[in-house]
Amino acid sequence: MTDRIVLTTGAGGQVGQALMELPPPAGWRIDGRGRGALDITDPDAVGAALADGAVAAVINLAAYTAVDRAETEPDAAYRINRDGPAVLAEACVRRGIPLVHVSTDYVFDGSADRPWRETDPTGPVSVYGASKLAGEQAVAAAGVRHAILRTSWVFGAQGGNFVKTMLRVGADRDSLRVVADQIGGPTPARAIAETCLTLADRLASGADATGVFHYGGSPAVSWHGFAEAIFARAAALGWRVPRTVEAITTADYPTPARRPAYSALDTTRLTEAYGIAAPDWRTGLDDVLARLTQKD
Ligand SMILES: NC(=O)c1ccc[n+]([C@@H]2O[C@H](COP(=O)([O-])OP(=O)(O)OC[C@H]3O[C@@H](n4cnc5c(N)ncnc54)[C@H](OP(=O)(O)O)[C@@H]3O)[C@@H](O)[C@H]2O)c1
Repeated sequence: MTDRIVLTTGAGGQVGQALMELPPPAGWRIDGRGRGALDITDPDAVGAALADGAVAAVINLAAYTAVDRAETEPDAAYRINRDGPAVLAEACVRRGIPLVHVSTDYVFDGSADRPWRETDPTGPVSVYGASKLAGEQAVAAAGVRHAILRTSWVFGAQGGNFVKTMLRVGADRDSLRVVADQIGGPTPARAIAETCLTLADRLASGADATGVFHYGGSPAVSWHGFAEAIFARAAALGWRVPRTVEAITTADYPTPARRPAYSALDTTRLTEAYGIAAPDWRTGLDDVLARLTQKD
């Protein structure tokens, strides 16, 4: 029997590159397309990409992820984060295949004092968050069999992320200031990629748990706590790190976009439906630092 194909968009991004390194699930082949090979906002290109009858699921990792820039580029953010997923969802409906779509903790306003559940009310406080929420709504409205995977604070060996920024900036400075009053769940890109592949496989095989699922790293931590963990491990691996990491408030570090103060995600629904537990970011961080240390 020929392998089924899982078409993966945004394959050149942080999670996309992590996914392209993974072995596909048994019986599958991954067709990963970067932005140059497939623009998700182009219905003709998406139709052509799905024309191969072996395509049995789609994973959408393409997104506009520049959170601050989105405040002044709302049209671009909505085109990619809302209209693109709508194009993909409609194409999947026509072909009768499922869509795994990745979304974000930034759909919430940050006011909770326990990890957010799928049933909690959304309330984005940024253009990026609002555009991602609109994308979720477009996917649900299209009537496609779908899993929307909300994740948070993504880090990996590839692409730009907080871990790599800390290592780069920390190498040149004696002291750093990092925000301590935003709490969330750092999530390894590779774990997200594995979960997307599992969901694509299970949905294509008829699994009936669909809708929104949360998947965020555990335990919840502040950016400051995360930075301290990064530097403690990096120092042991021989990296030059700052002597002090000062805890500051969000007010001390103004950014164009607001961020939720508390955005940890409760992964219980995904665990109950698919047996996938929240990843421990400390293990993921060890893996990523080991890989970055080898590269250097
Ligand atoms: N990064 C995080 O901390 C974070 C947190 C929560 C959720 N998420 C979500 O996780 C998913 C993956 O994020 P990521 O960190 O891998 O983002 P990323 O590194 O920015 O990758 C996104 C990719 O999408 C591509 N893209 C943009 N517009 C496109 C279009 N019209 N058609 C096709 N591809 C397009 C980008 O290409 P260009 O680089 O050429 O623009 C980029 O390669 C996204 O849905 C994101 O919203 C991310």
